[in-house]
Amino acid sequence: MNVLITGGAGYIGSHVVKQLLETTAYKVTVVDNLSTGSRKTLDTLRAIGDFKFIDLDLKEFDKVAELFTKSSFDTVIHFAASIVVPESVQNPLKYYMNNTVNTTNLINCAVQNGVKKFIFSSTAAVYGEPQEIPVLGLDEKFAVEPINPYGMSKLMSERVLQDTAKAHKDFKYVIFRYFNVAGADIHYENDTLLPRIGQSFPNATHLIKIASECALGKRDKMAIFGDDFNTTDGTGVRDYIHVDDLAEAHIKAVKYLKENDSDIFNIGYGKGYSVKEVIETMKKVTSNDFQVETAPRRAGDPAALISDNRKIKKKMGWIPRYEDLGLICKSAYEWEKKL
Ligand code: UD1
Repeated sequence: MNVLITGGAGYIGSHVVKQLLETTAYKVTVVDNLSTGSRKTLDTLRAIGDFKFIDLDLKEFDKVAELFTKSSFDTVIHFAASIVVPESVQNPLKYYMNNTVNTTNLINCAVQNGVKKFIFSSTAAVYGEPQEIPVLGLDEKFAVEPINPYGMSKLMSERVLQDTAKAHKDFKYVIFRYFNVAGADIHYENDTLLPRIGQSFPNATHLIKIASECALGKRDKMAIFGDDFNTTDGTGVRDYIHVDDLAEAHIKAVKYLKENDSDIFNIGYGKGYSVKEVIETMKKVTSNDFQVETAPRRAGDPAALISDNRKIKKKMGWIPRYEDLGLICKSAYEWEKKL
């Protein structure tokens, strides 16, 4: 099996590369433009196993086409994308070009060169701002109504994949709609949690990343964006999933597509935590206090997003291992220490 991973030097991609190297005998090629991914991450991964790295931006269509004609990939796992929601509102064309256009070209190259399987990182942002969350969370049939260009750029890519698979019968896809990915490599040395890879890109906007920076004193305070939502404590509720559980689903997806048809899967734990609960958990597991202020809501933040994950559990046999929010926070913090 010859697998191409785009964005393999980035946060989620690197955790998938790690698991491919540790648990499979697949031949792995990583493509990354290193805009947010890091060389240090690639060096760490090299200590785990062997893979080929190509420094390439997916907008370089000629080079992407050449890569596909020279290699014979069976599977593409596509992570490379821009992911900052507010930036997507200010600079939508960056998102439509980098996410939708480059993904379309990648799919085209894959189909032209006989790639059979395509695994795509989509997002819960395709669901927009649900007014009411069903008791069991949002399932894959829930209405898709993205409210920002980031979510729309991903939804459009989903559609390109679906239409392509309808027209090319031997081309199959798995689309994963990620809820809130957090935490870092669960790796112990002498019983001490010591992540080898994690979220490296500075200026990240994710809640758990920011809270771990505060716990380490890298920031002196943080803000809760809105405490007047219609939730149990008034702060936003999200379904935080550990990056290693998310990564494992991608390994399962490669096997799944050998015997099953294309499909879309939500991926989260089906349990929501509020911003206040996350901050309290970070303080508790690190034994560090920090200052927290209340600020106005961030534009476009829905009150709650929780996944219904019954489909991925049932159809793929995915069994999450790191559902403990304390471990998610602790691993993010231990990784942050190393940066
Ligand atoms: C969004 C996207 C997700 C994307 C991520 C990072 C949606 C549905 N999801 O997730 O696909 O990968 O951004 O770009 O659009 N918060 C604070 N203070 C902070 C930071 C966050 O209170 O300093 C709150 C937010 O208001 C929210 C929760 O924490 O309620 C989670 O925020 P964040 O980690 O940024 O992720 P999302 O916005 O949910």
